[in-house]
Amino acid sequence: MESVCRRVLCVDDESNVLEGFRRQLRRKFDLTTATSGPEGLALIREQGPFAAVVTDYSMPEMNGVEFLQQAHAIAPTMVAIMLTGRAELRIAVTALHEGHIFRFLQKPCPIDMLERAIDEALEQYRLVVSEQLLTAELRTLNAELEERVTQRTATIRRLHRFVTDLNGLDSLDLVADLVVQTTAEMLNCGRVALMLPVTQGGGLWIQAAVGLNEETVERTHVPIGEPISGRVFRDLQSVVLNTRDELLQYGDRRDGLVFNSVPLVSALLLTPSGPVGVLNLAEPAGQQPFDADQLALLRTLAEASAIALRNQMRLRERNEARDATILALAKLAEHRDPETGAHLERVQEYCRLLSEHLATNPKYATVISKSFIETIVRSSPLHDIGKVGISDHILLKPGRLTPHEFETMKRHSILGGDTIRNLIQQGRTQDFLQMGMEIAYHHHEKYNGKGYPFGLAGEAIPLSARIVAVADVYDALTSKRVYKEAMPHEQAAAIIREDAGSHFDPDVVAAFCAQEEHFRQLARDLADVLDELPCENATEVQAAYRAATAVRAPATLLAGA
Ligand code: C2E
Ligand code: SIN
Ligand code: SIN
Ligand code: FE
Ligand code: FE
Repeated sequence: MESVCRRVLCVDDESNVLEGFRRQLRRKFDLTTATSGPEGLALIREQGPFAAVVTDYSMPEMNGVEFLQQAHAIAPTMVAIMLTGRAELRIAVTALHEGHIFRFLQKPCPIDMLERAIDEALEQYRLVVSEQLLTAELRTLNAELEERVTQRTATIRRLHRFVTDLNGLDSLDLVADLVVQTTAEMLNCGRVALMLPVTQGGGLWIQAAVGLNEETVERTHVPIGEPISGRVFRDLQSVVLNTRDELLQYGDRRDGLVFNSVPLVSALLLTPSGPVGVLNLAEPAGQQPFDADQLALLRTLAEASAIALRNQMRLRERNEARDATILALAKLAEHRDPETGAHLERVQEYCRLLSEHLATNPKYATVISKSFIETIVRSSPLHDIGKVGISDHILLKPGRLTPHEFETMKRHSILGGDTIRNLIQQGRTQDFLQMGMEIAYHHHEKYNGKGYPFGLAGEAIPLSARIVAVADVYDALTSKRVYKEAMPHEQAAAIIREDAGSHFDPDVVAAFCAQEEHFRQLARDLADVLDELPCENATEVQAAYRAATAVRAPATLLAGA
């Protein structure tokens, strides 16, 4: 604490008294004298508060009580000693009530008693002042604490929102974006990049970033083990680099670093099952090194982010595996029937077009969600999966089928539906299998009930199958088949329109009409390569294609069907 004022002011109208004070007290105290109340007040105003004031009571211009009252108003901490004659004592005490007088001394007063009184007054002053300082300090401390509590509460609330938001997101991209945005905001950084090992080619790539341009995001690639992120990822050890030297020491790669400014944090995103990625932070506000509070906050952010990212990566892997399974299954059918070529992909795209348009129809708005569209796109390739169970001489017959052969052919929908039902009964209950089963069973049903295999009519036919029916027939018509030539778009579209209400759901045909140009375009863009080959003899081409691809459906695969 800074040195406390020890100045003493003596006020008395008798100059010989003052002279005595000066002579005897000067050695011990920092003494100032005044000959009247007003002069004393003027000194206080000019020089600031004294620690102690010794004043006479009866003075002509202003008595000691009045003087002390006014002095106290200017400088409340000053400690007062009043010197009174015996006769005046009672008056003074009464006048002051509980005024601001520390000691009364009676005149004449021995000098050692006065000295002791002044010493005590100075001590009192010191106590009062330190108490005041302490109080002020406590008050600031309190305010600071309160501020910290408020801040911390806000931080916790913000973190809570972050975790809640994370759980609501359903794609890796969205989670990655939220992670970098929140990190940049909460840690007040100009540059943040989330690096993940998700893209092909190994190493870490920037999945999402704040403060980096798109080209940098695309281009930046860090092999595992290389500074900075790759080393953090390999060593399972986050790093905080506050100085240029630390940066150069840690990262021996000096050029081409995107994160080449300090302070820099490269935080490992770790889950119990291993590292997920790395979160890089740079350009903190004011270029201040990251403090302990910020690093603790970053740790919490990193933990929550790691788990959410891991979940999304798992989900993505599962989706990819799932799609690969479906496609592998469907390709089995396709390879038996080479001229269908890109049939499956086209049917997928047609289903997407039809569903997206139907979703704009209020009647279907609640049924056709984003996930319905994703599911139908994924499961529509399963519609003809049952064709693997149809023998070559029927499936690949170049000409028209006999009625008996066609009856056999029609079994493909039951075979396909049963196959998928089997998969579902083995415990794979994903949405896409459910829909794939509906589609396989019912894609040859007709709206008027005259289709197969069950003769369902109208809305008794699952919506997914009503959509696939249009997509499938449009594609069958516009593509070349073993048994028929390709038909131009206009003719195919006329057949679809013609069959609205009989073969097809009129709502789906309406969607087809609205999207007709897109159909025409897609049919052209995804046309089979085989269609373009100069082809005299379809059978020969098929044989060549089959020899080239040499993929046969293992009969056992579908044995359970
Ligand atoms: P796909 O070739 O994929 O044909 C699917 C559906 O498109 C057919 O179901 C039919 O509704 C429609 N479609 C195909 N070509 C024509 C056409 O020229 N005119 C009209 N109006 N509609 C057409 P569908 O008839 O139940 O046939 C199911 C599957 O049976 C066909 O699938 C195909 O693999 C096979 N198939 C049908 N007819 C013949 C045939 O004459 N010869 C051979 N080899 N296979 C046939
Ligand atoms: C003094 O202090 O000697 C003066 C006495 C008084 O004013 O009462
Ligand atoms: C890193 O190496 O940690 C990040 C990528 C870069 O700065 O180039
Ligand atoms: Fe079919
Ligand atoms: Fe088909």
